[in-house]
Amino acid sequence: MQNLHGRDLLTLGDLSPEEVQAVLERAIAQKQARRMAGKPPVATGKSAALIFMKPSLRTRVSFELACVDLGMHPVVLGPGDAFSREETVHDTIKVLERYVDVIVLRTFAQSHIEEVAEHASIPVVNALTDDYHPCQGLADLLTIREHKGTTSGLKLAYVGDGNNMANTYLLAGALTGMHVSIAGPAGFEPSAAVVATAQGLAAQYGTGAKLEVTNDARAAVAGADVVITDTWASMGQEAEHAARVAAFAGYSVDAALMSAADPEAIFMHCLPAHRGEEVQNEVIDAGYSVVFDEAENRLHAQRAWLSLVL
Ligand code: CP
Ligand code: NVA
Repeated sequence: MQNLHGRDLLTLGDLSPEEVQAVLERAIAQKQARRMAGKPPVATGKSAALIFMKPSLRTRVSFELACVDLGMHPVVLGPGDAFSREETVHDTIKVLERYVDVIVLRTFAQSHIEEVAEHASIPVVNALTDDYHPCQGLADLLTIREHKGTTSGLKLAYVGDGNNMANTYLLAGALTGMHVSIAGPAGFEPSAAVVATAQGLAAQYGTGAKLEVTNDARAAVAGADVVITDTWASMGQEAEHAARVAAFAGYSVDAALMSAADPEAIFMHCLPAHRGEEVQNEVIDAGYSVVFDEAENRLHAQRAWLSLVL
């Protein structure tokens, strides 16, 4: 395994299968240690810029608390603070790296965070872009491992939009040897380029992953160990909401769809959920729903990542 010190996390594809497992191991160990008082913080005196160009509840709170747990000072910035007043990405990053030890950025285009990483001499963490959400991916793998005992050999069905979360699950499955089936309406599938990237990683590492995209939600969910969905209209697509609700008719995760899954299947959602749209209350409130474990695990996964990188 390569040392993770100083590394960027722009997509899960930045990690090898062994590195993914190392992050999960660290997260599990720290999650247990957090319940035992008196552990010294591991990054005392370091600081982080947490930049949110889009709204956030979970990511902001979990990163701030992860920093404090590690002895760090988090500085939260919004769209009026960073990348504003026509300041270039170069100048913004050269200033920030005089103050902080890591940059965590939620933004729109993946090319924006790539440009940030090109200029930064300090680690950069993707806190969600239009294309990827690797921190959520690590938290979700941790949640799957806790509930299923493993992250390999499982069938993960994602029903919904071919968005940043669908892309992230394709990469997660490629790196952990899962069977990932993405189901959504025609025209809303993940891009062929992302599917090819994920297939390439699965082949490169020989993980045995099987990755597929279909328009048949029931076929995707059939026998699945993990069923996941996400909003039909992501941040930045608010104006398309009504059209998307119409386009995704028939792709809501309800009890009838869940009945096609393995009887021991769990339900996951990165949240925020739109109850009555991509998921029905009978599913998200069921005993097999682990959405709040998943939300909690954002803290554990991100604290593990920061401690390994710093
Ligand atoms: N799942 C997630 O990233 O939540 P927030 O958008 O609230 O951070
Ligand atoms: N796909 C959603 C995920 C939110 C955490 C979005 O990008 O808005």
